[in-house]
Amino acid sequence: MKNNIFIETYGCQMNLADSEIVGSILTKAGYALIRNIDEADFILINTCAIRDNAEQRIRKRLRELRALQRQRTWVKIGILGCMAERLKTQLMEEEENVSFIVGPDAYRQLPDMLHHVNDGERMAETLLSDTETYADIEPVRYDTNGITAYISIMRGCQNYCAYCVVPYTRGRERSRNPETIVNEARSLFEKGFREVTLLGQNVNSYRWHDPAGDIGFPQLMAMVAQVNPLLRVRFATSHPKDLSDELLQVMADYDNICKCIHLPVQSGSERILKLMNRRYTPEWYLDRIDAIRRYLPTCSITTDVIAGFCTETEEDHQATLDMFRRVRYDYAYMFKFSMRPNTYAEKHLQDDIPDDVKTRRLEEIIALQGEIALENNQKEVGKTFEVLVEGVSHRSDQQLFGRNSQNKVIVFDRGDIQPGQYVNVRVTRCTAATLIGELAN
Ligand code: SAH
Ligand code: SF4
Ligand code: F3S
Repeated sequence: MKNNIFIETYGCQMNLADSEIVGSILTKAGYALIRNIDEADFILINTCAIRDNAEQRIRKRLRELRALQRQRTWVKIGILGCMAERLKTQLMEEEENVSFIVGPDAYRQLPDMLHHVNDGERMAETLLSDTETYADIEPVRYDTNGITAYISIMRGCQNYCAYCVVPYTRGRERSRNPETIVNEARSLFEKGFREVTLLGQNVNSYRWHDPAGDIGFPQLMAMVAQVNPLLRVRFATSHPKDLSDELLQVMADYDNICKCIHLPVQSGSERILKLMNRRYTPEWYLDRIDAIRRYLPTCSITTDVIAGFCTETEEDHQATLDMFRRVRYDYAYMFKFSMRPNTYAEKHLQDDIPDDVKTRRLEEIIALQGEIALENNQKEVGKTFEVLVEGVSHRSDQQLFGRNSQNKVIVFDRGDIQPGQYVNVRVTRCTAATLIGELAN
Protein backbone atom coordinates (compact mmCIF):
# COMPACT_ATOMS: atom_id res chain seq x y z
CA MET A 1 0.00 0.00 0.00
CA LYS A 2 1.23 3.47 -0.84
CA ASN A 3 0.92 5.32 2.45
CA ASN A 4 4.10 7.29 3.15
CA ILE A 5 3.39 10.96 3.80
CA PHE A 6 5.93 13.75 3.72
CA ILE A 7 4.83 17.21 4.93
CA GLU A 8 6.71 20.37 4.05
CA THR A 9 5.71 23.60 5.83
CA TYR A 10 6.12 27.23 4.80
CA GLY A 11 4.78 30.44 6.32
CA CYS A 12 3.92 31.30 9.90
CA GLN A 13 3.83 29.39 13.18
CA MET A 14 0.15 28.72 12.61
CA ASN A 15 1.05 26.68 9.57
CA LEU A 16 3.58 24.71 11.62
CA ALA A 17 0.85 23.98 14.16
CA ASP A 18 -1.56 23.02 11.37
CA SER A 19 0.95 20.60 9.85
CA GLU A 20 1.06 18.81 13.22
CA ILE A 21 -2.74 18.54 13.11
CA VAL A 22 -2.59 17.20 9.55
CA GLY A 23 0.07 14.73 10.70
CA SER A 24 -2.23 13.58 13.47
CA ILE A 25 -5.28 13.18 11.21
CA LEU A 26 -3.32 11.14 8.69
CA THR A 27 -1.45 8.88 11.12
CA LYS A 28 -4.78 8.05 12.79
CA ALA A 29 -6.08 7.06 9.37
CA GLY A 30 -3.19 4.62 8.92
CA TYR A 31 -0.71 6.70 6.95
CA ALA A 32 2.95 6.87 7.97
CA LEU A 33 4.68 10.21 8.45
CA ILE A 34 8.21 9.94 7.13
CA ARG A 35 11.25 12.20 7.35
CA ASN A 36 12.90 11.35 4.03
CA ILE A 37 11.16 12.83 1.02
CA ASP A 38 12.74 10.22 -1.27
CA GLU A 39 10.48 7.58 0.29
CA ALA A 40 7.28 9.59 0.02
CA ASP A 41 4.13 8.47 -1.78
CA PHE A 42 2.32 11.70 -0.99
CA ILE A 43 4.00 15.09 -0.59
CA LEU A 44 1.91 17.69 1.24
CA ILE A 45 3.08 21.28 0.97
CA ASN A 46 1.57 23.61 3.56
CA THR A 47 1.77 27.03 1.97
CA CYS A 48 1.73 30.75 2.74
CA ALA A 49 0.17 33.52 0.64
CA ILE A 50 1.15 36.56 2.68
CA ARG A 51 3.47 38.11 0.07
CA ASP A 52 4.02 37.38 -3.60
CA ASN A 53 7.52 36.01 -2.94
CA ALA A 54 6.06 33.42 -0.54
CA GLU A 55 3.94 32.10 -3.41
CA GLN A 56 6.78 32.25 -5.93
CA ARG A 57 8.84 30.09 -3.64
CA ILE A 58 6.15 27.39 -3.69
CA ARG A 59 5.90 27.56 -7.49
CA LYS A 60 9.65 27.03 -7.67
CA ARG A 61 9.46 24.13 -5.25
CA LEU A 62 6.79 22.48 -7.42
CA ARG A 63 9.10 22.71 -10.44
CA GLU A 64 11.93 21.12 -8.43
CA LEU A 65 9.67 18.27 -7.36
CA ARG A 66 9.04 17.28 -10.98
CA ALA A 67 12.44 15.56 -11.00
CA LEU A 68 11.42 13.42 -8.03
CA GLN A 69 8.13 12.57 -9.71
CA ARG A 70 9.98 11.37 -12.81
CA GLN A 71 11.77 8.81 -10.61
CA ARG A 72 8.75 7.86 -8.55
CA THR A 73 5.93 8.29 -11.03
CA TRP A 74 3.16 7.47 -8.56
CA VAL A 75 4.02 10.28 -6.12
CA LYS A 76 1.11 12.68 -5.63
CA ILE A 77 1.58 16.28 -4.54
CA GLY A 78 -1.02 18.24 -2.56
CA ILE A 79 -1.12 21.93 -1.70
CA LEU A 80 -2.42 22.84 1.77
CA GLY A 81 -2.81 26.11 3.63
CA CYS A 82 -3.24 29.70 2.60
CA MET A 83 -2.16 29.50 -1.03
CA ALA A 84 -4.52 26.57 -1.54
CA GLU A 85 -7.35 28.63 -0.07
CA ARG A 86 -6.50 31.73 -2.07
CA LEU A 87 -6.16 30.09 -5.48
CA LYS A 88 -8.40 27.04 -5.11
CA THR A 89 -8.77 24.99 -8.32
CA GLN A 90 -6.89 27.64 -10.30
CA LEU A 91 -3.72 26.30 -8.74
CA MET A 92 -4.41 22.82 -10.08
CA GLU A 93 -4.99 24.24 -13.55
CA GLU A 94 -1.72 26.16 -13.43
CA GLU A 95 0.42 23.48 -11.81
CA GLU A 96 -0.05 20.16 -13.55
CA ASN A 97 1.91 18.14 -10.99
CA VAL A 98 -0.50 19.11 -8.19
CA SER A 99 -3.17 16.46 -7.54
CA PHE A 100 -5.04 17.94 -4.60
CA ILE A 101 -5.79 21.26 -2.93
CA VAL A 102 -6.89 21.50 0.71
CA GLY A 103 -7.78 24.72 2.52
CA PRO A 104 -6.98 25.30 6.24
CA ASP A 105 -10.45 24.30 7.47
CA ALA A 106 -10.74 21.10 5.40
CA TYR A 107 -7.94 18.95 6.83
CA ARG A 108 -10.32 16.37 8.31
CA GLN A 109 -11.18 15.37 4.75
CA LEU A 110 -7.59 14.49 3.86
CA PRO A 111 -7.81 10.70 4.48
CA ASP A 112 -10.82 10.41 2.16
CA MET A 113 -9.22 12.64 -0.40
CA LEU A 114 -5.96 10.69 -0.48
CA HIS A 115 -7.97 7.59 -1.22
CA HIS A 116 -9.48 9.15 -4.31
CA VAL A 117 -6.24 10.84 -5.31
CA ASN A 118 -4.51 7.49 -5.18
CA ASP A 119 -7.03 6.27 -7.74
CA GLY A 120 -5.96 9.04 -10.07
CA GLU A 121 -8.53 11.75 -9.26
CA ARG A 122 -7.65 15.42 -8.82
CA MET A 123 -9.57 17.16 -6.05
CA ALA A 124 -9.97 20.44 -4.19
CA GLU A 125 -11.60 21.08 -0.79
CA THR A 126 -11.45 24.73 0.21
CA LEU A 127 -14.62 25.41 2.15
CA LEU A 128 -13.92 27.70 5.13
CA SER A 129 -15.72 27.06 8.40
CA ASP A 130 -17.02 29.35 11.16
CA THR A 131 -16.54 26.67 13.80
CA GLU A 132 -13.61 24.37 12.98
CA THR A 133 -10.82 24.62 15.59
CA TYR A 134 -9.52 21.02 15.50
CA ALA A 135 -9.97 21.19 19.29
CA ASP A 136 -10.26 17.41 19.70
CA ILE A 137 -7.16 16.56 17.70
CA GLU A 138 -3.92 16.04 19.56
CA PRO A 139 -1.20 17.23 17.17
CA VAL A 140 1.70 14.88 16.46
CA ARG A 141 4.93 16.66 17.26
CA TYR A 142 6.90 15.09 14.44
CA ASP A 143 9.58 17.71 14.03
CA THR A 144 10.28 18.67 17.59
CA ASN A 145 13.07 19.41 20.04
CA GLY A 146 10.86 17.85 22.74
CA ILE A 147 11.03 21.07 24.77
CA THR A 148 9.04 23.82 23.04
CA ALA A 149 5.68 23.44 21.30
CA TYR A 150 2.90 25.47 19.71
CA ILE A 151 -0.73 25.33 20.76
CA SER A 152 -3.24 26.83 18.36
CA ILE A 153 -5.93 28.63 20.43
CA MET A 154 -7.90 30.44 17.79
CA ARG A 155 -8.25 30.52 14.03
CA GLY A 156 -9.07 33.10 11.42
CA CYS A 157 -9.00 36.87 11.43
CA GLN A 158 -11.51 39.52 10.58
CA ASN A 159 -9.51 42.66 11.11
CA TYR A 160 -9.18 43.24 7.37
CA CYS A 161 -6.00 45.24 7.39
CA ALA A 162 -5.97 46.76 3.91
CA TYR A 163 -2.83 44.91 2.74
CA CYS A 164 -3.55 41.47 4.18
CA VAL A 165 -4.81 38.20 2.65
CA VAL A 166 -5.26 36.34 5.94
CA PRO A 167 -8.98 37.15 6.42
CA TYR A 168 -9.56 35.59 2.98
CA THR A 169 -7.35 32.54 3.47
CA ARG A 170 -8.21 31.72 7.08
CA GLY A 171 -11.83 32.77 7.39
CA ARG A 172 -13.68 34.17 10.36
CA GLU A 173 -12.27 34.42 13.84
CA ARG A 174 -13.16 31.57 16.22
CA SER A 175 -11.75 30.46 19.56
CA ARG A 176 -11.01 26.99 20.79
CA ASN A 177 -12.49 25.42 23.92
CA PRO A 178 -10.19 26.45 26.81
CA GLU A 179 -10.40 23.06 28.50
CA THR A 180 -8.85 21.40 25.45
CA ILE A 181 -6.10 24.02 25.42
CA VAL A 182 -5.24 23.48 29.09
CA ASN A 183 -5.33 19.70 28.61
CA GLU A 184 -2.97 19.95 25.67
CA ALA A 185 -0.56 22.10 27.71
CA ARG A 186 -0.72 19.60 30.59
CA SER A 187 -0.12 16.64 28.33
CA LEU A 188 2.88 18.40 26.76
CA PHE A 189 4.31 19.16 30.20
CA GLU A 190 3.92 15.51 31.21
CA LYS A 191 5.82 14.49 28.08
CA GLY A 192 8.74 16.70 29.15
CA PHE A 193 7.95 19.87 27.20
CA ARG A 194 8.81 23.05 29.11
CA GLU A 195 7.47 25.83 26.92
CA VAL A 196 4.23 26.40 25.01
CA THR A 197 3.40 29.24 22.66
CA LEU A 198 -0.31 29.99 22.32
CA LEU A 199 -1.03 30.87 18.72
CA GLY A 200 -3.56 32.95 16.85
CA GLN A 201 -3.51 35.77 14.29
CA ASN A 202 -4.86 38.01 17.00
CA VAL A 203 -4.62 36.12 20.29
CA ASN A 204 -5.95 38.88 22.46
CA SER A 205 -9.34 38.70 20.84
CA TYR A 206 -9.59 35.12 22.13
CA ARG A 207 -13.04 34.67 23.71
CA TRP A 208 -14.84 31.54 24.81
CA HIS A 209 -18.51 31.92 25.66
CA ASP A 210 -19.45 30.00 28.76
CA PRO A 211 -22.63 30.11 30.86
CA ALA A 212 -20.46 30.37 33.98
CA GLY A 213 -18.79 33.46 32.54
CA ASP A 214 -16.85 34.19 29.38
CA ILE A 215 -13.16 33.39 29.21
CA GLY A 216 -11.01 36.01 27.54
CA PHE A 217 -7.33 35.87 26.65
CA PRO A 218 -5.99 37.10 30.04
CA GLN A 219 -7.99 34.40 31.87
CA LEU A 220 -6.84 31.75 29.42
CA MET A 221 -3.21 32.78 29.93
CA ALA A 222 -3.63 32.45 33.70
CA MET A 223 -5.19 28.99 33.28
CA VAL A 224 -2.30 27.76 31.14
CA ALA A 225 0.29 29.36 33.44
CA GLN A 226 -1.23 27.40 36.35
CA VAL A 227 -0.58 24.06 34.66
CA ASN A 228 2.89 24.10 36.21
CA PRO A 229 5.31 26.85 37.28
CA LEU A 230 8.00 25.04 35.28
CA LEU A 231 6.02 25.40 32.06
CA ARG A 232 6.86 28.61 30.27
CA VAL A 233 4.02 30.27 28.39
CA ARG A 234 4.38 32.57 25.37
CA PHE A 235 1.88 33.89 22.86
CA ALA A 236 1.75 35.33 19.34
CA THR A 237 0.47 37.56 17.85
CA SER A 238 -1.31 40.36 19.65
CA HIS A 239 -2.91 43.25 17.81
CA PRO A 240 -2.03 46.61 19.43
CA LYS A 241 -5.66 47.73 19.44
CA ASP A 242 -6.56 44.90 21.85
CA LEU A 243 -3.54 44.85 24.15
CA SER A 244 -5.24 45.34 27.50
CA ASP A 245 -3.90 46.34 30.90
CA GLU A 246 -5.63 43.24 32.20
CA LEU A 247 -3.38 41.04 30.07
CA LEU A 248 -0.28 42.96 31.21
CA GLN A 249 -1.36 42.44 34.83
CA VAL A 250 -1.71 38.67 34.32
CA MET A 251 1.72 38.62 32.68
CA ALA A 252 3.14 40.41 35.71
CA ASP A 253 1.41 37.98 38.10
CA TYR A 254 3.00 34.80 36.73
CA ASP A 255 6.77 34.31 36.56
CA ASN A 256 6.36 31.56 33.99
CA ILE A 257 4.56 33.82 31.52
CA CYS A 258 7.44 35.01 29.40
CA LYS A 259 8.21 38.69 29.37
CA CYS A 260 8.16 39.21 25.65
CA ILE A 261 5.48 40.87 23.54
CA HIS A 262 5.28 40.83 19.77
CA LEU A 263 3.33 43.94 18.85
CA PRO A 264 3.29 44.53 15.09
CA VAL A 265 3.36 48.27 14.39
CA GLN A 266 3.34 48.11 10.53
CA SER A 267 4.00 51.86 10.19
CA GLY A 268 4.83 54.88 12.33
CA SER A 269 2.71 57.24 10.26
CA GLU A 270 -0.78 58.13 11.42
CA ARG A 271 -2.00 58.59 7.85
CA ILE A 272 -0.60 55.25 6.67
CA LEU A 273 -1.95 53.39 9.70
CA LYS A 274 -5.38 54.77 8.90
CA LEU A 275 -5.07 53.75 5.26
CA MET A 276 -3.97 50.29 6.43
CA ASN A 277 -7.12 50.06 8.59
CA ARG A 278 -5.01 49.25 11.65
CA ARG A 279 -7.41 51.10 13.96
CA TYR A 280 -4.78 52.73 16.17
CA THR A 281 -2.71 55.89 15.97
CA PRO A 282 1.03 56.17 16.70
CA GLU A 283 0.12 57.92 19.98
CA TRP A 284 -2.14 55.09 20.99
CA TYR A 285 0.51 52.53 20.09
CA LEU A 286 3.11 54.42 22.14
CA ASP A 287 0.70 54.54 25.05
CA ARG A 288 0.53 50.72 24.90
CA ILE A 289 4.34 50.58 24.85
CA ASP A 290 4.39 52.79 27.97
CA ALA A 291 1.90 50.45 29.63
CA ILE A 292 4.12 47.44 28.85
CA ARG A 293 7.14 49.20 30.36
CA ARG A 294 5.09 50.12 33.42
CA TYR A 295 3.66 46.68 34.16
CA LEU A 296 6.61 44.66 32.89
CA PRO A 297 9.88 46.59 33.22
CA THR A 298 11.98 43.68 31.92
CA CYS A 299 9.75 42.86 28.95
CA SER A 300 11.24 42.69 25.46
CA ILE A 301 9.21 44.09 22.59
CA THR A 302 9.32 42.93 18.98
CA THR A 303 7.41 44.01 15.91
CA ASP A 304 6.47 43.65 12.24
CA VAL A 305 6.78 46.55 9.81
CA ILE A 306 5.94 47.13 6.15
CA ALA A 307 8.00 49.50 3.98
CA GLY A 308 6.47 51.18 0.95
CA PHE A 309 2.74 50.76 1.48
CA CYS A 310 0.54 52.59 -1.07
CA THR A 311 1.12 56.39 -1.09
CA GLU A 312 3.87 56.23 1.56
CA THR A 313 5.88 59.48 1.44
CA GLU A 314 9.40 60.11 2.72
CA GLU A 315 7.76 61.83 5.68
CA ASP A 316 5.68 58.72 6.46
CA HIS A 317 8.82 56.61 6.19
CA GLN A 318 10.65 58.97 8.57
CA ALA A 319 7.75 58.52 11.02
CA THR A 320 8.38 54.76 10.93
CA LEU A 321 12.08 55.27 11.63
CA ASP A 322 11.11 57.60 14.51
CA MET A 323 8.81 54.94 15.89
CA PHE A 324 11.71 52.47 15.86
CA ARG A 325 13.95 54.98 17.66
CA ARG A 326 11.30 55.59 20.30
CA VAL A 327 10.29 52.01 21.02
CA ARG A 328 13.77 50.49 20.56
CA TYR A 329 12.54 47.04 19.55
CA ASP A 330 14.55 43.99 20.48
CA TYR A 331 13.72 42.33 17.19
CA ALA A 332 11.71 43.16 14.08
CA TYR A 333 10.37 41.30 11.07
CA MET A 334 10.71 43.82 8.27
CA PHE A 335 8.97 43.54 4.90
CA LYS A 336 8.57 45.32 1.60
CA PHE A 337 4.92 45.90 0.78
CA SER A 338 3.56 43.32 -1.63
CA MET A 339 0.18 43.98 -3.24
CA ARG A 340 -2.13 41.01 -2.71
CA PRO A 341 -5.09 40.16 -4.94
CA ASN A 342 -8.58 40.88 -3.59
CA THR A 343 -7.45 42.88 -0.57
CA TYR A 344 -8.83 46.36 0.10
CA ALA A 345 -5.52 47.83 -1.08
CA GLU A 346 -5.72 46.03 -4.38
CA LYS A 347 -9.29 47.15 -4.97
CA HIS A 348 -8.99 50.75 -3.86
CA LEU A 349 -5.36 51.86 -3.74
CA GLN A 350 -2.38 51.90 -6.02
CA ASP A 351 0.94 50.15 -5.56
CA ASP A 352 2.63 53.42 -6.41
CA ILE A 353 5.96 53.22 -4.58
CA PRO A 354 8.68 52.11 -7.03
CA ASP A 355 10.46 48.94 -6.04
CA ASP A 356 13.84 50.63 -5.65
CA VAL A 357 12.31 53.12 -3.21
CA LYS A 358 10.68 50.33 -1.21
CA THR A 359 14.02 48.52 -1.10
CA ARG A 360 15.89 51.60 0.06
CA ARG A 361 13.35 52.34 2.79
CA LEU A 362 13.41 48.74 3.94
CA GLU A 363 17.21 48.79 4.08
CA GLU A 364 17.13 51.97 6.17
CA ILE A 365 14.78 50.32 8.65
CA ILE A 366 16.92 47.16 8.75
CA ALA A 367 20.11 49.17 9.35
CA LEU A 368 18.52 51.21 12.16
CA GLN A 369 17.01 48.12 13.78
CA GLY A 370 20.40 46.36 13.61
CA GLU A 371 22.00 49.18 15.60
CA ILE A 372 19.19 49.25 18.16
CA ALA A 373 19.21 45.47 18.66
CA LEU A 374 22.97 45.51 19.24
CA GLU A 375 22.69 48.39 21.74
CA ASN A 376 19.83 46.65 23.55
CA ASN A 377 21.87 43.46 23.76
CA GLN A 378 24.95 45.31 25.00
CA LYS A 379 22.84 46.48 27.95
CA GLU A 380 22.30 42.81 28.89
CA VAL A 381 26.01 42.13 29.28
CA GLY A 382 26.77 41.44 32.94
CA LYS A 383 23.17 40.38 33.74
CA THR A 384 22.20 36.84 34.72
CA PHE A 385 19.15 35.22 33.14
CA GLU A 386 17.24 32.05 33.70
CA VAL A 387 17.58 30.11 30.45
CA LEU A 388 15.55 27.17 29.24
CA VAL A 389 18.08 25.01 27.41
CA GLU A 390 16.82 23.93 23.97
CA GLY A 391 19.75 22.12 22.40
CA VAL A 392 23.29 22.06 21.12
CA SER A 393 24.53 25.25 19.47
CA HIS A 394 24.77 25.16 15.68
CA ARG A 395 28.28 26.56 15.81
CA SER A 396 29.91 24.14 18.25
CA ASP A 397 28.80 20.92 19.96
CA GLN A 398 30.68 22.09 23.06
CA GLN A 399 28.05 24.79 23.48
CA LEU A 400 24.35 24.77 24.27
CA PHE A 401 21.75 27.35 23.43
CA GLY A 402 18.49 28.36 25.02
CA ARG A 403 16.34 31.42 25.54
CA ASN A 404 15.64 33.74 28.40
CA SER A 405 12.15 34.87 29.30
CA GLN A 406 12.61 37.79 26.88
CA ASN A 407 13.02 35.23 24.07
CA LYS A 408 16.64 36.18 23.43
CA VAL A 409 18.92 33.36 22.34
CA ILE A 410 21.81 32.74 24.75
CA VAL A 411 24.78 30.48 23.93
CA PHE A 412 27.06 29.09 26.64
CA ASP A 413 29.60 26.29 27.33
CA ARG A 414 27.75 23.10 28.03
CA GLY A 415 29.15 21.67 31.25
CA ASP A 416 26.87 18.89 32.54
CA ILE A 417 23.68 20.48 31.40
CA GLN A 418 20.97 18.71 29.37
CA PRO A 419 18.39 20.25 27.03
CA GLY A 420 15.11 20.82 28.87
CA GLN A 421 16.82 22.08 32.03
CA TYR A 422 16.60 25.59 33.43
CA VAL A 423 19.97 27.18 34.17
CA ASN A 424 21.22 30.60 35.16
CA VAL A 425 23.54 32.13 32.61
CA ARG A 426 25.55 35.31 33.03
CA VAL A 427 25.93 37.26 29.79
CA THR A 428 29.56 38.08 28.98
CA ARG A 429 29.27 39.44 25.44
CA CYS A 430 26.84 39.70 22.53
CA THR A 431 26.09 40.29 18.88
CA ALA A 432 22.95 41.96 17.50
CA ALA A 433 21.28 38.54 17.35
CA THR A 434 22.75 36.48 20.19
CA LEU A 435 23.86 36.77 23.80
CA ILE A 436 26.91 34.76 24.81
CA GLY A 437 27.39 33.80 28.42
CA GLU A 438 28.63 31.39 31.07
CA LEU A 439 26.87 29.19 33.60
CA ALA A 440 26.25 31.12 36.78
CA ASN A 441 25.20 28.29 39.12
N1 SAH B 1 -1.79 38.85 12.60
C1 SAH B 1 -0.57 39.50 12.67
C2 SAH B 1 0.33 39.35 11.46
C3 SAH B 1 0.08 38.36 10.40
S1 SAH B 1 1.00 38.42 8.92
C4 SAH B 1 -0.83 40.97 12.89
O1 SAH B 1 -1.91 41.45 12.73
O2 SAH B 1 0.09 41.68 13.18
C5 SAH B 1 2.64 38.76 9.44
C6 SAH B 1 3.17 40.06 8.93
O3 SAH B 1 3.30 40.05 7.52
C7 SAH B 1 2.29 41.27 9.18
O4 SAH B 1 2.41 41.74 10.48
C8 SAH B 1 2.79 42.26 8.18
O5 SAH B 1 3.88 43.01 8.69
C9 SAH B 1 3.30 41.38 7.04
N2 SAH B 1 2.43 41.47 5.88
C10 SAH B 1 1.14 41.12 5.78
N3 SAH B 1 0.67 41.37 4.55
C11 SAH B 1 1.69 41.92 3.85
C12 SAH B 1 1.82 42.43 2.51
N4 SAH B 1 0.80 42.41 1.67
N5 SAH B 1 3.03 42.90 2.13
C13 SAH B 1 4.06 42.91 3.00
N6 SAH B 1 3.99 42.47 4.26
C14 SAH B 1 2.81 41.98 4.69
FE1 SF4 C 1 -3.70 40.34 8.61
FE2 SF4 C 1 -4.41 42.42 10.04
FE3 SF4 C 1 -5.49 40.03 10.52
FE4 SF4 C 1 -2.96 40.48 11.15
S1 SF4 C 1 -4.74 41.50 12.05
S2 SF4 C 1 -3.77 38.70 10.10
S3 SF4 C 1 -2.29 41.83 9.52
S4 SF4 C 1 -5.75 41.27 8.69
FE1 F3S D 1 1.09 32.92 5.58
FE2 F3S D 1 -1.30 32.02 6.02
FE3 F3S D 1 0.37 32.30 8.01
S1 F3S D 1 -0.77 33.60 4.60
S2 F3S D 1 1.57 34.04 7.36
S3 F3S D 1 0.61 30.94 6.34
S4 F3S D 1 -1.83 32.56 8.09
